[in-house]
Amino acid sequence: MNMQCLLVFTILCVYLTNATLKQCYWNDGCSYKYFSSKTSYDAVRGDIRDAKLGDCEPVSIWHIMRHGPRNPGPDFARKIKTALSYKDDIIKSYEKGNSSLCAQDVDNLKAYEVPEDMFIYVSKLTEEGYNDMFQIGKRIAQTFPKLVESLDDGSYEFRAVYGHWIEKSLKAYVEGLAGDKTVNISEVNLSFDNIAPYAACGIYQKEVKANPALYAEVDYYEKTDDYLAAKHRIERRNGLNYDLSGENITSLHDLCRYTWSSKEKSSPWCAVFTKEDLEVLEYVGDLRHYYRNSYGHPVNKLYGGPPLWDLLTTFQLAKDGKGKKVTSYLSHATMMDMIYTALGLYKDEYPLNGTARVRNRKWRSSFRSGYCANMLAVLNRCSERNSTEFKVAFYLNENPMTELCDDGICTWEEFEKLLQPFIGSKIDLKFCKFMNTRFR
Ligand SMILES: *[C@@H]1O[C@H](CO)[C@@H](O)[C@H](O)[C@H]1NC(C)=O
Ligand SMILES: *[C@@H]1O[C@H](CO)[C@@H](O)[C@H](O)[C@H]1NC(C)=O
Ligand SMILES: *[C@@H]1O[C@H](CO)[C@@H](O)[C@H](O)[C@H]1NC(C)=O
Ligand SMILES: *[C@@H]1O[C@H](CO)[C@@H](O)[C@H](O)[C@H]1NC(C)=O
Ligand SMILES: *[C@@H]1O[C@H](CO)[C@@H](O)[C@H](O)[C@H]1NC(C)=O
Ligand SMILES: *[C@@H]1O[C@H](CO)[C@@H](O)[C@H](O)[C@H]1NC(C)=O
Repeated sequence: MNMQCLLVFTILCVYLTNATLKQCYWNDGCSYKYFSSKTSYDAVRGDIRDAKLGDCEPVSIWHIMRHGPRNPGPDFARKIKTALSYKDDIIKSYEKGNSSLCAQDVDNLKAYEVPEDMFIYVSKLTEEGYNDMFQIGKRIAQTFPKLVESLDDGSYEFRAVYGHWIEKSLKAYVEGLAGDKTVNISEVNLSFDNIAPYAACGIYQKEVKANPALYAEVDYYEKTDDYLAAKHRIERRNGLNYDLSGENITSLHDLCRYTWSSKEKSSPWCAVFTKEDLEVLEYVGDLRHYYRNSYGHPVNKLYGGPPLWDLLTTFQLAKDGKGKKVTSYLSHATMMDMIYTALGLYKDEYPLNGTARVRNRKWRSSFRSGYCANMLAVLNRCSERNSTEFKVAFYLNENPMTELCDDGICTWEEFEKLLQPFIGSKIDLKFCKFMNTRFR
C-alpha cells in the first residue's frame, strides 16, 4: 500500500468512525423509552407466566389496571396538531446547514405522517393499546388456568370506570382472559366508584387536580438551568432559532410519545430530543404525578384506601371458600398512584421539588404509572409440611413487588396487617363537599 492510499484509507476510516459516532435516533439500538405516564407497557413489564410459587395453588386473583395507550384528549390533540408546524422549520434549517440532526432522521421526519385518526377520535384506545390489554388477559389465563377454566356466575367480577378507552381496555383484557367463554362485564358505576373515588369528588377535582398552586414545583423547575439547558439544546439541535415556550416543548414531547410505538420503528418525532432532554421532561411528569396524585398533597393517600379495602375483603371471603376467583378492575394512572401512596411505596426521603432533578428518585411514573400499569395480588393455598397456609403474592407490571414482603410474597398475617389500615375506607359526598360531574 503506498502512502497516498494509506492516507485516503486513514481519512476514510476516521470519517466513518466519526459518522458512526454521530448520535442518530434511527440507528440507536437503545433509545430512551421512558415517557412518564405515556410509557409503553413493553418497556417496563415482566411476565407473570414466569412467576413460580412452589407448592401453592392459586385460589383467587385481584387485579387493578390502568388503561392502555390512547389518542390524546381534546386539549392535547389541539396543541399537538399546532406543533406539527415545526416540521417545516426543522427541515428548512437542516437544509440550510443550521441543524445537528442526522440526515436519516430528517428524512424519516419528512416522510412521516401522524396517524390520521389521532386527531379525529380523541382519547380513543389505540390498536396497540387493545393488543397490550388483550395480551395481559391472555397471560393471566395461561398462568392461572384453573381459575379461569369455568367462570360461573358470582365467581368473578370485571369492572371498569367511566370512559370509552377504559371500558374498551377491559373488554380487550377480558377477551384475552376468557377466550371464547361468555362472561358478564359489570356496569360502570357513575356515583362514588371505589376504584376511582377521586373522579366524582368535587374537592379533589377543585383543590388538587385543577389547582395551579399544586404545579408550582413544575413552574419552578422550568426556570432552572437544568430545564433551560434542555430547552436550548432542543432549539439549537433542530435549528429552531426562536424561543420555544414550555407549552411548545410539551407539545413536541407529546408528539414524540403519542406516536412512539414499541412494535414499529420508533417515531422520528423523538429524534428532536436527546436522552438528557427526555430525562428532563420525564422529571416534569414525575413532579406532576407526585403533587397531583401522591405524597405532594396529604389528601391523596386517602383515595388509595377504598380499592385496598376491597382487596382485603375479597381475599378474606376467598380464603373461607366464599369469594370470587377473579376480580379485575380497569381505572386510571391516578388510581395506581394513589394506591402506591396509601401503601407508602416509592416514597423519597425528601419531597420531590423543582429546585433540582433528583436522578436516583424512587418516584418514577414511567415505571409504575405508564400505560397498562397494573398491580396483581394472588391468593395462594400452600402446603407447608403438614398444614395448609395462605399466602398472597403481589406483582407490579408482572414483576414481584419485593417492596411489600420478602420476594413479593406475604404470609396471610403480613397481608392482613398491611391492609388492615384501610378497613372502612370510603369517600363520600360529605368528604368531597360536592359531587363533580365534569369528568363524564
Ligand atoms: C407555542 O406556545 C405558545 C404559547 O406559549 C402558543 O401560543 C403557540 O401556538 C405555540 N406554537 C406552536 C407551534 O405550537
Ligand atoms: C444556527 O444559526 C444560528 C444563528 O443564525 C447560530 O447561532 C447557530 O449556531 C446555528 N446552529 C447550528 C446548529 O448551526
Ligand atoms: C350474565 O348475566 C345474566 C343476566 O344478569 C345472567 O342471566 C347470566 O347467567 C350471566 N352469565 C354469566 C356467565 O355470569
Ligand atoms: C356504585 O358505588 C356505590 C358507592 O360506592 C355503591 O353503593 C353502589 O352499590 C355501586 N353500584 C354498583 C352498580 O356497583
Ligand atoms: C429540594 O429537594 C432537595 C433534596 O432532593 C433538598 O436538598 C432541597 O433542600 C429541596 N429544596 C427545597 C426548596 O425544598
Ligand atoms: C405432622 O402431623 C403429625 C400428625 O398429625 C404430627 O405428629 C407431626 O408432629 C406433624 N409434623 C409437623 C412438622 O408439624
